[in-house]
Amino acid sequence: MPVGVADPALAARLGLPRAAEGQAELLLVHQGERLVLAGDPTRFGHPLAVDFVAGRAGHRRRFGGGRGQLVARACGLARGVTPSVVDATAGLGRDAFVLARLGAKVLLIERVAAILALLEDGLARARLDPETADIVARMTLVHGDATRELEALVASGAVAPQVIHLDPMFPHRDKSALVKKEMRLFRTLAGNDPDAPRLLEAALDVATHRVVVKRPRKAPPIEGPSPRHVIEDRNSRYDLYVHRRLEA
Ligand SMILES: C[S@@+](CC[C@H](N)C(=O)[O-])C[C@H]1O[C@@H](n2cnc3c(N)ncnc32)[C@H](O)[C@@H]1O
Repeated sequence: MPVGVADPALAARLGLPRAAEGQAELLLVHQGERLVLAGDPTRFGHPLAVDFVAGRAGHRRRFGGGRGQLVARACGLARGVTPSVVDATAGLGRDAFVLARLGAKVLLIERVAAILALLEDGLARARLDPETADIVARMTLVHGDATRELEALVASGAVAPQVIHLDPMFPHRDKSALVKKEMRLFRTLAGNDPDAPRLLEAALDVATHRVVVKRPRKAPPIEGPSPRHVIEDRNSRYDLYVHRRLEA
């Protein structure tokens, strides 16, 4: 069993099997205040949790810069322009949190139940902290597969899909050992997102202004129409598919 859940009520809500330590490759379990996803540390590294208050997100919140960040530029956040964004590949919510911190309303869509549970937990804790409560108030999380039901998910989240942000999994995107282990864990859960071309198609149908796709710098674009613009920094690249100009 790849994922088991220690808490029976959470297992039932997520529709995942119940398990005790050692019974599943990855176990979703409460550690202190946090819900974590833990596996054999030699394969998967430290247990994974979503933390918008401290850790990497907290550091980026305090020192990470403003609308010059690549994800913000890609999504069209500029002076006087703050579009609403659908992040159809929410993952651990890092990109969505950056956008929400800069004032954007963000709908997060995640299809993997265990990742969704980590995100729900991270958002719940961030709501209780005065430094992050206002930011996460702009974030709405829904569970579902954006390739199959993007339009319905967007309607249920009540966020206008001016910009749709996509960051599907891509093999071997980062060489650092820590990220490699985290990626291994992610890949065990989420696979390699082979349906990314169909997701792009769905996003292009639903977005009113633009679709932006995060890729490793040297990776080919997602199969399909060619991007209108490409922007990049040292670590990653965004392919931009533009329908219409975002106005102030
Ligand atoms: C590389 S991660 C995204 C990381 C994210 N940008 C962040 O900042 O944490 C990709 C995530 O998208 C999710 N995903 C991929 N395709 C999806 C789809 N069609 N619908 C919903 N979630 C999807 C995967 O389950 C995985 O959690």
